[in-house]
Amino acid sequence: MGCCFSEPVDFDSEVNLFHFDLHRAVGKGAFGKVRVVEHKRSKKLYALKYIDKARCIKQKAVANIIQERRLLEEIDHPFIVNLRYAFQDDENCFFVLDLMLGGDLRFHLESRGYLSENVVQFWAAELASALVYLHKQRIIHRDLKPDNIVLDAKGHAHITDFNVAIHYSERRLHTSVAGSMAYMAPEVVGRKGYTWCVDWWSFGITIYELLFRRRPFDGRTSEKMTNSILKDPLRFPDDAHKKCSSNCVKFVQALLERNVSQRLGCRPHGQGFQDIQNHAWLQGVDWEVLDIKEAQPPFVPDMKKANFDVTHELDEFLMVEKPLTHSKRKANPDLAKMKPEVRQLEEQFTVYDFMSTKRRSYYPHNEPITTVVRNLDSDQIPVVQSISNTLVPTTTMGDRSQAGSPALDTTWHQHMSMPL
Ligand SMILES: Nc1ncnc2c1ncn2[C@@H]1O[C@H](COP(=O)(O)OP(=O)(O)O)[C@@H](O)[C@H]1O
Ligand SMILES: [Mg+2]
Repeated sequence: MGCCFSEPVDFDSEVNLFHFDLHRAVGKGAFGKVRVVEHKRSKKLYALKYIDKARCIKQKAVANIIQERRLLEEIDHPFIVNLRYAFQDDENCFFVLDLMLGGDLRFHLESRGYLSENVVQFWAAELASALVYLHKQRIIHRDLKPDNIVLDAKGHAHITDFNVAIHYSERRLHTSVAGSMAYMAPEVVGRKGYTWCVDWWSFGITIYELLFRRRPFDGRTSEKMTNSILKDPLRFPDDAHKKCSSNCVKFVQALLERNVSQRLGCRPHGQGFQDIQNHAWLQGVDWEVLDIKEAQPPFVPDMKKANFDVTHELDEFLMVEKPLTHSKRKANPDLAKMKPEVRQLEEQFTVYDFMSTKRRSYYPHNEPITTVVRNLDSDQIPVVQSISNTLVPTTTMGDRSQAGSPALDTTWHQHMSMPL
């Protein structure tokens, strides 16, 4: 008696975890796991990212999760991991995302040592297209790095993890320090105030790391790292010319330009993207074919083996972590009796279903993007709320797959000291 399988699934109800079969874990996040799920009716496979509410509240990341949920709703692009469903139960918040079975770039970097120029060049073009789209939506990702780039089964690159992403305003610079230190632009660590151009810097660090297996600016303490980012000359390995062309080196140099107004990708009004498209390194790219995912990726992940760290699976096995189970919600929760953070999640982590909900923006000034709405009252309020909470996870210490993950001073040097 009482077997969980006996109850029929109500597909007419709002989307919930009972609509999915749970399969294996493929990734580990700061507050939970990412696992493969199958929609029981459509039989489609997705990635389920789930976030333990208690852990998220303890680490003061409630606003981040709500922000991530909102931003994902307004994004839809071929080179971004798009949101399909969002919902919650009493313990977790859930994102159901496009499934990327080709693995993240941290995994490939570690398992292959380094990646060849033509492979990196192809990903760079796809990622540049995604970044330009995000910036047009007035979103800064702020945490671009190999861990947050995932491949689909064919080898196309996608940006994921909008946990510290924010909306920006053209009239105000951001100052909050968020992201992963080794990838942070000088204007972030130098507390100068920054805008979307920080993503082009992180993009440069990412390309450098994929090619040469190390990052150009490093240090064992937060102070040393800051100094390195602000002052160290950009050096390439002695054998760089064996690994990549001089145009490639020039491309990376142009992205890792400390002067924002000179940085590649950063000229306003779309000119930055023209500069990228016209750069000698990306001359051969057919951008129209690229954007419809018709270009053939030079690196196709081997789908016969797992393209992720199989030990994610073990945590639950060894009972280090609570296994995820389908659980019914308590009937009629009383909002007034809830802890304020629980209530905030309840009210603001709203259900999303791509089959029935039209994507929309939560930011009045952002819809449509070309309309200039100069409403001082509404502008920035959600952003201000979120940036006060963006300094994120402390739980990622020593976690290999999270190397260089969102930084707190106490955690990052451990990542940095780890051999890559
Ligand atoms: N859509 C997806 N398909 C497959 N794997 C994914 C997907 N999204 C994320 N992952 C994997 O899970 C890891 C953690 O997810 P991420 O969104 O980056 O969480 P966090 O915000 O905690 O860093 C990623 O580094 C990646 O390996
Ligand atoms: Mg991540």
